[in-house]
Amino acid sequence: MEVSLIAAMGRDRAIGKDNDLMWHLPNDMKFFKETTKGHHVIMGRKNWDSIPAAFRPFKNRVNVILTRQPDFIADGAYVFSSLRDAFSFAQQGSEDETFVIGGEQIYALALSEGWVNSIYLTHVDAEFPGAHTFFPAFDEELFDSEILFTQEKDERHTYAFKVLKYTRK
Ligand SMILES: NC(=O)c1ccc[n+]([C@@H]2O[C@H](COP(=O)([O-])OP(=O)(O)OC[C@H]3O[C@@H](n4cnc5c(N)ncnc54)[C@H](OP(=O)(O)O)[C@@H]3O)[C@@H](O)[C@H]2O)c1
Repeated sequence: MEVSLIAAMGRDRAIGKDNDLMWHLPNDMKFFKETTKGHHVIMGRKNWDSIPAAFRPFKNRVNVILTRQPDFIADGAYVFSSLRDAFSFAQQGSEDETFVIGGEQIYALALSEGWVNSIYLTHVDAEFPGAHTFFPAFDEELFDSEILFTQEKDERHTYAFKVLKYTRK
């Protein structure tokens, strides 16, 4: 089973503030939905909490939450207390590519354990002072990268961005 991270970050690596995103980029959201559709998506409990109730669990995906709270339950999601157990669960479900969808703590955990095969990373062309969470620096030398697509600033997108895929060499 492949393990992929998927994230969007500013030039300063910012990914969130006040347990929320800092931008609304419809074509990046569309990319996220298309890429993760049908797969397991593993997220930290804070990320889960940040998703508006109307949008969670994410439809057409197996939602998996990581928490240290032994009695945590969430409608429509599976709950685990270790990333290893979450990956085992996905593997038992015949998953071929499982997605770690953040936030910062869970990205850092997956990277630190060396479990990551690919990173789909949206580079938002702006800085976000006051951000509280950041995408962890990782050793780009270990990965090949390709640009999947770019988006100019327009009436629907306040910021330009480009989406890169990093694949472990
Ligand atoms: N731009 C993006 O692509 C993107 C993507 C996702 C999220 N975000 C943003 O990221 C922010 C949230 O990130 P965050 O770093 O604060 O929180 P997070 O990673 O979403 O969740 C942290 C929580 O995960 C649980 N956890 C952490 N390490 C664990 C471990 N080793 N074992 C078991 N459970 C563990 C803990 O839950 P308990 O406290 O319940 O024990 C912890 O409080 C939000 O602002 C969100 O909008 C941005």
